[in-house]
Amino acid sequence: MSGVTLLTANVSLESALASHYGKSVALRRVWSDQWRDPAEVAMDACGANPELLILGSDLPADIARGVVADVDRRYRSTTSVVLVTVADVEDTVELMRLGARDVLVEKPADEGFLDSVDTVLELARDRHGRAADPGAGLRRRIITVVSPKGGSGKTTIATNLSVGLAHRMPKQVMLLDLDLQFGDCAAALGLKPEHSLLNAIKSATHERSALKVFLTSHPSGLALLPPPDDLVAVDEIDGDELKQTVAALTEEFPFVVIDTGGGIDAAALAAMDLSTDLLMVTTTDVPAITSVRRQIEILDQVGYTSQRRILVLNRSNAKVGLSVKDVEETIGMEVKFQIPSTRMIPVSTNEGTPAIEKDAGNVARKFEEIAAYFAPSEDRGSRSLLRALRKDR
Ligand SMILES: Nc1ncnc2c1ncn2[C@@H]1O[C@H](COP(=O)(O)OP(=O)(O)OP(=O)(O)O)[C@@H](O)[C@H]1O
Ligand SMILES: [Mg+2]
Repeated sequence: MSGVTLLTANVSLESALASHYGKSVALRRVWSDQWRDPAEVAMDACGANPELLILGSDLPADIARGVVADVDRRYRSTTSVVLVTVADVEDTVELMRLGARDVLVEKPADEGFLDSVDTVLELARDRHGRAADPGAGLRRRIITVVSPKGGSGKTTIATNLSVGLAHRMPKQVMLLDLDLQFGDCAAALGLKPEHSLLNAIKSATHERSALKVFLTSHPSGLALLPPPDDLVAVDEIDGDELKQTVAALTEEFPFVVIDTGGGIDAAALAAMDLSTDLLMVTTTDVPAITSVRRQIEILDQVGYTSQRRILVLNRSNAKVGLSVKDVEETIGMEVKFQIPSTRMIPVSTNEGTPAIEKDAGNVARKFEEIAAYFAPSEDRGSRSLLRALRKDR
């Protein structure tokens, strides 16, 4: 049997979840007035092999920490989530370091709270299924958006693609802005992040799940990690540390999109090294096209050949005398996607609303096409959850 086990005395939490899920989830509540050894509590809670274990905010904090650690160690197919009365970054980092999948403020009457539990349950089911069948599960993709020329549309494509993927799979997509000097993904998404890549790099722990506290959420369900604001701090970033942190973060998300600055700098090399796919962006002008061809030659020379390369032609309808065929012949690759030039794109960037969410027409469809290429419909997350997230906005 599987389902959800609740470790709480709070019957109103139990009934809120029972009425939210109806018969679709087997819900079981476990409680004792005499808390003993956390390992015994974990054994009671995980005896029925639940997909998700929810630790109520009334569970003593030391017992909760012990149970989370024990579940992480001994009950690998069960995911745990801890409920708290007040959010605290240090406690959250500690609980996630011990193995909690998430830490949520307990608000049984709140739709947002129930949505968050839905999301964790979705991930828990995936993990439970994978524990039974280790070959199953989502296909992990790390997609780096590159272009030798500045201003070709990398950020536009990275932000719209990642939001398109997040619509399909909320909370399973991260956008990492590795344009360390001039990264502007946060502005393009209308976000004001509190933390940056530097916090993640300098964080005392490199436990994968704990790094997630440094991410900023977009209403689409996308998680963003921006570069630091401070350019002096950028200079201090060590290439190996950067790569380790990026590698740790990418382990936590089935889909990671990485935006880069122009050219091939150390950050772009680290990103490409970890990538499954390179989205190569060009416009229709001769200098852009020849520099993409040159970039491909360099990648071949330095041995970056295992990543799938996908060519995107931005501003594809610009009347500058070169056809798609000319572009393909010069670069020696098929143009997989074309994005037309439209005023709507800079307007949406300036507003902080990605074009894919602003427009229901041709341009949004172009970005949807790219998202669908990476996440075909069978990989989609919960549709009800997606609807709920959209309704929230
Ligand atoms: N298809 C398009 N139609 C019209 N404007 C576009 C299009 N694509 C991008 N732009 C605009 O061109 C500018 C540069 O785009 P973007 O920031 O995405 O490029 P970039 O490659 O990330 O640049 P940088 O190298 O500076 O990071 C932005 O103002 C953007 O809104
Ligand atoms: Mg950019």
